[in-house]
Amino acid sequence: MAAARPQPPPRTKITTAALREMKQQRERIVALTAYDHLFAGLLDQAGIDVVLVGDSMAMVVQGRDTTVSVTMDQTVYHCELVARACKRALVVGDLPFLSYQVSTEDALRSAGRLLKEGLVEAVKLEGGAPVLATVARLVEAGIPVMGHLGLTPQSIHQFGSYKARGIDPAEQRRIVADAKGLEQAGAFALVLEKVPAALGRKVAKAVTIPVIGIGAGPHVDGQILVTADMLGLFSKFRPRFVRRYAELGKAIDSALRAFGADVRQGAFPGPDESY
Ligand code: KIV
Repeated sequence: MAAARPQPPPRTKITTAALREMKQQRERIVALTAYDHLFAGLLDQAGIDVVLVGDSMAMVVQGRDTTVSVTMDQTVYHCELVARACKRALVVGDLPFLSYQVSTEDALRSAGRLLKEGLVEAVKLEGGAPVLATVARLVEAGIPVMGHLGLTPQSIHQFGSYKARGIDPAEQRRIVADAKGLEQAGAFALVLEKVPAALGRKVAKAVTIPVIGIGAGPHVDGQILVTADMLGLFSKFRPRFVRRYAELGKAIDSALRAFGADVRQGAFPGPDESY
């Protein structure tokens, strides 16, 4: 008999307050990405706590090399598909590059659209010191904000590569300071991407808000992965921090080939599949 999988914790609707409580109670937060209604529903039913409509949609569903080109209209569209499928998970919409950096007014309008039209419950934005005033203004307006530090993919052209961040002590100090700044500005949580595990631990200890890691080691308050990566659906590249929980790309390929062979041989449809 197959071993029973642990059931999702019996929490009701996940809110930003619930996430903070989870950190206090050392209950790890489980987060994944979704861009459409079908996958969002699967994630929600499986008890995933946070569903992020990430700008990783650029790579996963748009076939692009970076996240830079994602637009507000595309994000609003995908957020709305996802949000309507999630009954329990907290749904967070990723603010696209340059939808929040030009001015605070711009940021308010962009974040407001994600809440009002995209129906998400919170927004995520990348960066530290330069975005703190914007975070404070959004929070003041009633918009929950999740920060994102470490490797911030919208700055890829500045970084020049997707290699790990926070290796040198100066950058480590800056990341810890930025995390504290985000907390002070009112962010309810932050994503910490591709940094050494020791830095992950330090950041998680430095703030009372949950730190959700992606390639930030095991000592943070929760983990997020791109769903297509962990299901083996996306294989253009595979960062070391991705654990594959399924090989759906391979399963889909063999199903498609079987269908093709059946149709070509006249083996589909059979009598039971015909009227
Ligand atoms: O866009 C995204 O999917 C993200 C996660 C990788 C954290 O920002």
